[in-house]
This record gives sequence, structure tokens and C-alpha cells, in this order.
Amino acid sequence: MSEQTATPFDLLGGESGVRSLVDQFYDLMDLEPQYAGIRALHPADLGGSRDKLFWFLCGWLGGPNHYIERFGHPMLRARHLPYAIGIHERDQWMACMLSALADRGVPDDLAQRLGQSFFGTADWMRNRGG
Ligand code: HEM
Repeated sequence: MSEQTATPFDLLGGESGVRSLVDQFYDLMDLEPQYAGIRALHPADLGGSRDKLFWFLCGWLGGPNHYIERFGHPMLRARHLPYAIGIHERDQWMACMLSALADRGVPDDLAQRLGQSFFGTADWMRNRGG
């Protein structure tokens, strides 16, 4: 595989790298008080949330479409409508993901590129003011 064709999925280390990022993201959300606001929106058991984010990110990052194979079109914004997401929730989600990327040793340039893409999606998920 040449540098030019490597997807973010490849650069993160494929499925095991993406899984490890998702696990770190939810471990931080579960443990760190600054993410308590978005933690409270999630079910008590984060197992299903971990699997869904992992399946989704594999495809979103250019790898296999596990999420679409299971659930069809992600309709991500519609699926987030039951949860009140404003600027605070968006920023908590982003801070948690940036922390997970850093903890997993993702190189700065890749982490910055991914951060921009995550921000676009997280901002699009806002469904209430404030
Ligand atoms: C903006 C802040 C966000 C908040 C507060 C938030 C919160 C949530 C919550 C509470 C759930 C339900 C979890 C469950 O059913 O177990 C969920 C599901 C999900 N979220 Fe987010 N989320 C945010 C942003 C994002 C972003 C940026 C992505 C992708 C890059 C994403 C991807 C997903 C996926 C794939 C699911 C599973 C959807 C399903 O099949 O039901 N979320 N999110």
C-alpha cells in the first residue's frame, strides 16, 4: 500500500486501532468528571455504544462498512435527535475524542485532520441552542 492510498482507517492501525480508540474514548467518558454531562445521555451499560461507534467509525474512516451492513444508512443526525445536544455537549464530545486520540499516540498531523472531520460531524449533531 502506498502512502497516497492509505486511508485514515489504515493509518490508525485498522480495526484493532479503531477499537482501541473507541474504547479509550468511552473509558474517558465513563471516568472523567468533565464528561459527566454527555455520559449521562448514554445508557448505564456502554457496551452497545462502544460497538456502534466502532462499527460506524470503521466505515467513516475509509475501512469496512460494518455499521451500514447492520443498520443501513447511518442517519446520524436523526439518530441523535432524542438527545439534547448543544454547544456544551458538542465540546465535551470533542474534548473527549481529542484526549483519546492523544492517549492512543495518534501522530499530531493525523489527529488534527481527524479532529477537523470529527468537529464537522459533532457540530452538525447540534439540535438545540446553547
Ligand atoms: C456532538 C456530541 C455527541 C453526543 C452528545 C452524542 C451522544 C450519543 C448518544 C447518547 C448516543 C446513544 C448511545 C447508545 O444508544 O448506546 C449516540 C449514538 C451514536 N453516536 Fe453520538 N454523540 C455525539 C456526536 C457523535 C459524533 C461526532 C459521531 C460520529 C463521528 C457519533 C456517532 C454515533 C453513532 C454511530 C451512534 C450509534 C447510533 C445508533 O445506531 O443508534 N456521535 N451518540
